[in-house]
Amino acid sequence: MTATAGVFEGATMGRQRSLSTYEGWKDFAERPPRSRPEHLIRVQLDALDPERRARYDADRRAWHANILLRTRQVHGVHTQLADILDSNLQDSDRVKSAAALDAPPALGKSTVVNTFGRDFHRQRVAEIGEHLDADQDILHLPVCHITVPGRLTIKGLHMMILGFYAHPATAGILHRSMAGRDLARAAADCIERHDTRLVIIDDLHFLSMRTRDGVEVANQLKWLSNEYSATFLFAGVALRERGLVGEGAVGREAAMAQTFRRWTVFSLDPYSLRTKHTREEWCSLLWHIEQALVLADARDGMLVDMSRYLFARTTGNIGSLMDLIRRGASRAIRTGQEAIDRTLLDDIRIDEGAETERGELEARLDKQEAARRERRRAKEAPKQQPHAEEKSAA
Ligand SMILES: Nc1ncnc2c1ncn2[C@@H]1O[C@H](COP(=O)(O)OP(=O)(O)OP(=O)(O)O)[C@@H](O)[C@H]1O
Ligand SMILES: [Mg+2]
Repeated sequence: MTATAGVFEGATMGRQRSLSTYEGWKDFAERPPRSRPEHLIRVQLDALDPERRARYDADRRAWHANILLRTRQVHGVHTQLADILDSNLQDSDRVKSAAALDAPPALGKSTVVNTFGRDFHRQRVAEIGEHLDADQDILHLPVCHITVPGRLTIKGLHMMILGFYAHPATAGILHRSMAGRDLARAAADCIERHDTRLVIIDDLHFLSMRTRDGVEVANQLKWLSNEYSATFLFAGVALRERGLVGEGAVGREAAMAQTFRRWTVFSLDPYSLRTKHTREEWCSLLWHIEQALVLADARDGMLVDMSRYLFARTTGNIGSLMDLIRRGASRAIRTGQEAIDRTLLDDIRIDEGAETERGELEARLDKQEAARRERRRAKEAPKQQPHAEEKSAA
């Protein structure tokens, strides 16, 4: 993390309604950031009456559950996305480029696209206003957000877009009598009417390119991303492997390759301890989490000093790490320990992926550390040699 990227804030994830309705999205995007609970030292904590203590603990749990770190990766993807949005906003007559965030599970894809969408929403509302007409009838909704469900048809896709805008077609049986073309038109109208410039489509991996419906929806998305004046931003797991983005696909998927050629694809990587730089980045992440925690007996270095252990527990996956720390912090509050240490974390189980790799990784890291120590000793040994000789000469 860079200095600027380390800023943390009380993210607004968590106490949110569905982001796939305009009300839920507006609420998420416009809600002021949480304020961090005051840090009380042990005597102050012990002096709270039971009611205030319960409220203070609840505030701290909510705060911990919603920590958002503007890591280097978050910052990097946001900058690139802002470039794409800016150029799409300016050159409205040419074909728009779309963006996709393709990364393994739980590395923060939804976090990145949602926080980007939130920033974009705020920026556009600040520039243009909350309404688009003098009578204040038409809401300005710069962002539309949908999450792809298990099986999606073209009709389902349009219904989801209409559902975001609470279009009457989704309220009753109206849609049954509406032809697919009309639903498509209505969805396009919503996007235009509310001046939506960014359409976020999360969990795109649920689209199966092995089914006719999946391929049809993918084709439709391509068409929509050309047709609408909005920029499309997709997020999902293994989008390349699934033939949802990138070139080089064969057969039936070759058409898709062309389809998605204009998509700019970004990725997120797990943290690593391989080089000095990546180790520093991991420690910097831990340091920023440490700063965000509100525990009476927390001390500087509480997490950083366990950096290798925390890596072994989480395989450098930010989702697993945040889970572990959140649960650890909750337990530290509940038990009155008010600090996180290895004994406390040892007893907390997290996701299966991280738990399975834990033992193997711990052993490998121990071996690497021993080798590093050995190399250091070997390096230092020749320097000590002349000294020893001098001594014996004397
Ligand atoms: N920058 C961040 N700061 C704080 N927490 C984060 C950050 N990025 C991810 N997380 C945490 O990691 C977890 C997974 O994040 P998220 O849901 O964004 O990942 P994802 O890649 O979309 O996962 P999935 O593949 O399951 O959709 C969440 O609990 C989230 O709070
Ligand atoms: Mg996600």
